[in-house]
Order: sequence, then C-alpha cells, then structure tokens
Amino acid sequence: MRNAAEINQSIVDGFSEKMLGTLNSALLSLSLSIGYRTGLLETMARLSDATSSEISDAAGLHERYVREWLGAMVTGGVVTYAATSKTYHLPPEHALVLTSAAGLNNMARFAQLVPQLGAVAPAVENSFKNGGGVPYSAYPEFMQLWAEVNGERLDTTLIQSVVPLMPDVLHALNRGIDVLDVGCGDGHVLRLMARAFPASRFTGYDLVDDSIEAAREKAQRQGLDNVYFKNCNILQINEHEKYDLITAFDAVHDLAAPAEVLNSLSRALKETGTFLMVDLAASSNLEENMEHPLGPWLYTSSCMHCVTVSLEQGGEGLGAMWGEQKAMAMLEAAGFDQVSIKRIKDDPFNNYYIARRSV
Ligand SMILES: C[S@@+](CC[C@H](N)C(=O)[O-])C[C@H]1O[C@@H](n2cnc3c(N)ncnc32)[C@H](O)[C@@H]1O
Repeated sequence: MRNAAEINQSIVDGFSEKMLGTLNSALLSLSLSIGYRTGLLETMARLSDATSSEISDAAGLHERYVREWLGAMVTGGVVTYAATSKTYHLPPEHALVLTSAAGLNNMARFAQLVPQLGAVAPAVENSFKNGGGVPYSAYPEFMQLWAEVNGERLDTTLIQSVVPLMPDVLHALNRGIDVLDVGCGDGHVLRLMARAFPASRFTGYDLVDDSIEAAREKAQRQGLDNVYFKNCNILQINEHEKYDLITAFDAVHDLAAPAEVLNSLSRALKETGTFLMVDLAASSNLEENMEHPLGPWLYTSSCMHCVTVSLEQGGEGLGAMWGEQKAMAMLEAAGFDQVSIKRIKDDPFNNYYIARRSV
C-alpha cells in the first residue's frame, strides 16, 4: 500500500461511490429475479397506481413480502411511489424492459443468473482454493434458462438468418445431407433444422443424459423421423468424413479438451464440409474488452460456470471469453484454413464462425 500522502482522496471517494452502486445493483438484481419468478413485475405492468395489498392480492402473494420488495423497487428506481395514496406504479417504459413485453430482451429474466450463480458460489470458492471444479449437474436451472433463451432466439433466426449465411449449405440441406450438432443440449437446433429440411439427416451428441432424453422425447412428440440423438462424449467420437455440416452452438468454450474436439470434428467432416461454430463475440485480449457492454457479467458467468465445468473434467478451462483471436487460431490448428466470422442482426453477442478446409 502506498503512503497515505500519495493517495488521491477524490479517487477513493469516487470509487467508493461506484462500489456502493454496484452493491445496490447486485441486490436489486436479486429482487428483480424474484419479481420475474413470482410474476410480480407482470402483475404490476397490468395494474396502475396500486397499493401493496392490491398488488399482492392480484399476484396471489403475501403482502408483507411484497411491500418490502416494493421498497427495493422504489429506492432502486424501478417503480414509482405516491406517498399520499401509498400506491406504486411500474412505468410502461420500464415494463418494456422488465416484462414479457421485452420478449427475448426481458432483463428481469436474466436477473435470475444472480441467484443461480450465487447458489454455486461456495462450490466455486472451494475450487479457487483446492483446484478442480463444479460439475454440470450443479446447474440445472442455469442450463434450462440458457436452453430456453437460445431456443427462443433460434426460433426466429436459425432458418431465417443463420443458415442463409452459408448459401451453398442451404442449397445442400434442401437436397439432403448429413448434419451433426455437438453439445446439442435438448436438441432445439436440430429439431428446427429437421423440420425445415426433411430431406436431410440430423444427429445430435451431448454428454448429459437428461438433455438427450428430453431431445428424443421432443423430437418424437413433433413426429420427426430424420433426427437421432445419442448420449456421447464428443471427445471420444471416432468418425471419418461422415458429415457435410457440423454445428456447435455455444458449446466449444465449455469443453474439457476443445483442441482435441476440434481435431476430431475436422476428421468427422467430409472434405468439402462446413463447420459452423457459434460462440461469444469478444476479444481474447482483456484490454480489448474494456468497452464490452457485458464485460463483468460475462467474465463472472464464465468463471462460475464455463471455466469450472471444464476444470471439473480435468480440462483446460477455456472459458466463455476465450475470444476471437484464440478461436481463429484453434480452428486453424484443427485444419480449418478458410474461416470467416459473420454476425446476424438479432444476435449481437455471438460470432458465427464458418470454417472450411481447402481441398
Ligand atoms: C452451453 S450448452 C449449449 C447447448 C445448446 N447447444 C444450446 O445452444 O442451447 C453446452 C452443451 O455442451 C455439452 N457438452 C459439454 N461437454 C461435452 C462433451 N465432451 N461431449 C458432448 N457434449 C458436451 C453440455 O452438456 C451442454 O449441453
């Protein structure tokens, strides 16, 4: 620590104020998550100028809890309060950010990450001290949330905007080709493609039993007979020139052995095949992420989920913020010497890497 005479007190005061705001925002996020999960925010969007009793009655909740929660919402600038009538109001402009009216961008829904990651914090802290990591099985709600969010986004973008990034692949999918999706989760991507391209054949691999069971059940319910799901560690696949298209949505950075997997995917792809890898748009260099609008959010999520699930498997802990430069280098090392990075309008936070090999 530097001597007190060298300390700039105005920097201390400014930073202290900033940290106070951070602490308030963290707990306000927790309250927003409760507002999302109990339906309170949706209820308030329907009511205007209501008392805490009217709000709690409408939401079917206990008034004493609701009143305290409203205190957090009012002092946090989310809800307005009229002291004379003791009524609360969620301005329509705020409802457009914090309720289903915001669609996929409902920020109250994302506030759930705070309690979800808070629940694994003791286990992650233990890994800071003792190494190792926290297994996927510790994150059921977190994985479900991302499956839902990714799924809803892909409902309107996959066939409409993502596949057309590869016009030749679109053409081939219509004709009939073999497609593999790795880290397929509950199979949403493949079910959308299997329905859109009935002449093609789709295979999905994932490590987690429950995800594969859910994927099979949903495909069966939709009557899809051109999609097949298998519980499989993609590190162990030993397939050669089998697929025309391989996709990996939000999956590579979590892997225990990403370099080995990219090599085996390169082998599993036909000579003229395409690998589509969808992953977070960021730089591999911390100093270039200073202006990223979700910097602390993404590094924290990465530390408390992506890095730790990989380290738990004895992996390298690449993390969600592995970034573009590292991704390009690893794709090249796996033999993909023609890689382009594309973006789509409705998904500003992801890069779409379209990787091929020269033939
Ligand atoms: C963040 S999720 C993405 C799921 C899905 N692709 C999506 O976009 O919603 C990453 C997925 O990779 C799977 N995964 C991780 N390591 C794997 C491995 N070695 N083999 C197969 N799947 C794996 C996880 O089980 C998880 O379902």
